[in-house]
Amino acid sequence: MEEVVKATNITWHQGDIKREDRERANGHQGAVIWFTGLSASGKSTLAHALENALFEKGCKTYVLDGDNIRHGLNKDLGFSPQDREENIRRIGEVAKLFADAGLIVLTAFISPYRSDREKARKLNPKNFIEVYVKCDIDICEQRDPKGLYKKAKAGEIPEFTGISAPYEEPENPEIVIDTGQCSVEQAVNFLLTYLNQQGIIS
Ligand code: ADX
Repeated sequence: MEEVVKATNITWHQGDIKREDRERANGHQGAVIWFTGLSASGKSTLAHALENALFEKGCKTYVLDGDNIRHGLNKDLGFSPQDREENIRRIGEVAKLFADAGLIVLTAFISPYRSDREKARKLNPKNFIEVYVKCDIDICEQRDPKGLYKKAKAGEIPEFTGISAPYEEPENPEIVIDTGQCSVEQAVNFLLTYLNQQGIIS
C-alpha cells in the first residue's frame, strides 16, 4: 500500500532524556521481541511467559498482543492484506515508542507478510529480535483454542491465515522455536539466554 502522509509543517522536538538514559535507569536495554507465526502456534503464550520471567528479574516490559490490540487501537482493521499491513505498521510504530522508552516490548501478531515484518524491523534497528514461532498447521488445528480453524474450514471466516490466506515464513529470523517440539519453559530459558548473550539483559 502506498504510504499516505498528510502531516505537514511539523517539527521533531528532541527531549533531554535519551533512550540510553532510560536504559541506564532500567538496568537493561530497550528491545523489540517480535513473535510471528500461525494462529494457535503459541505466540501469546510465549510472549507472556517470557514477560513473566523478565518481570521477575526486574525488567520493564510490555506485551502487545494481536487480539488485545484489535479490541482498541486497531479495532477499525480487518484481515485483508491491506488491513494487516496497517495493523503491523501501527504496531511497529508503537513498539518503537516503547523501546525508545527503554522497555522490552514483546509483540504477538501473526504478521503473515515478510515485507510488513521487514518494515517493522527497519523502524526498530536496535535490538529487533524476530522470533518465528513455528508450529505445524495440523497441530494448530488440533489445538484450535478459539475454534477458529473449525469455523474457517467451514467457510465461516474468510481470509483465515493458513487456510484461505497466506503465511510467509521468516527467512532469517533471529530465533526459531518449534512449539510442537519444546516446552514453554525450555523456550523461555532459551530466549533469556539469547537476551543475555546479546547484552540486552544481564
Ligand atoms: S495479523 O495477521 O494482522 O498479524 P493479528 O495477530 O493482529 O493478525 O490477529 C490475529 C487474531 O485475530 C487471531 O489470533 C484470531 O484470534 C483472530 N482472527 C480473526 N479473523 C482472522 C483471520 N481471518 N485470520 C487470522 N486471524 C484471525
